[in-house]
Amino acid sequence: MFDTIREDIACVKQRDPAARSSLEIFFLYPGLKAIRMHRRANFCYRHKMYFWARFISQRAVKKTGIEIHPAATIGRRLFIDHGTGVVIGETAVIGDDVTLYQGVTLGGTGHHTGKRHPTIGNNVLIGAGAKVLGPFTVGDNTNIAAGAVVLNAIPPNSTAVGVPARVVKQNGKRVDDLDQVNIPDPIAIELNRMQLEIESLNKKIKSLTGEKK
Ligand SMILES: CC(C)(COP(=O)(O)OP(=O)(O)OC[C@H]1O[C@@H](n2cnc3c(N)ncnc32)[C@H](O)[C@@H]1OP(=O)(O)O)[C@@H](O)C(=O)NCCC(=O)NCCS
Repeated sequence: MFDTIREDIACVKQRDPAARSSLEIFFLYPGLKAIRMHRRANFCYRHKMYFWARFISQRAVKKTGIEIHPAATIGRRLFIDHGTGVVIGETAVIGDDVTLYQGVTLGGTGHHTGKRHPTIGNNVLIGAGAKVLGPFTVGDNTNIAAGAVVLNAIPPNSTAVGVPARVVKQNGKRVDDLDQVNIPDPIAIELNRMQLEIESLNKKIKSLTGEKK
């Protein structure tokens, strides 16, 4: 537990130039408070204590202005800066080293049931007020600009801006300068990811049922 707290504090120090001391970060940063409360809410949710899971997450909203559904999956060293108005939906998945600013929504469009919130890769930055809506993936090392509305998968190592969001930079190059023939296709990337996931689930099912090959 202490290692996790130390890691949380270190990641804020690294990413917020305004952070002064560990004490200040631990007691006064709403993002950290919301994440600590989410860990408790998620524990209750996983142990089927749904009322208490909701109770804790709603107390977190009152205290911090950040709403994280108790079932949301959150990686290590998430930093929610400022925090007010951040909403993270039930089936959202967030990788490691992600930064979210105030007003970010990881939500659904209302068109899907089941998995309906985005999966955010590792080392992704999502700027103030950005909305990422739908059950697709935002690739690793990607920047989503402040104010963007993302409605489709974004490939890794990209910068997406605008409403609806479009990729303007990839692998450090402006998209205008990219090879237009060999540009990565976000839908193909998403299909590949799903294919890999299906294969790994098949393997797990076979190992659980003792089936060979
Ligand atoms: C997107 C962002 C992360 C920069 O990422 P980057 O990969 O370094 O991108 P660049 O700065 O090289 O910008 C790439 C292009 O996107 C444009 N762009 C950047 N941010 C934008 C935004 N929010 N909306 C629209 N266009 C934007 C730039 O003007 C640039 O366009 P150009 O190539 O035509 O000049 C940064 O602009 C941003 O939005 N950060 C969020 C910070 C935040 O929310 N702060 C709140 C603190 S309280």
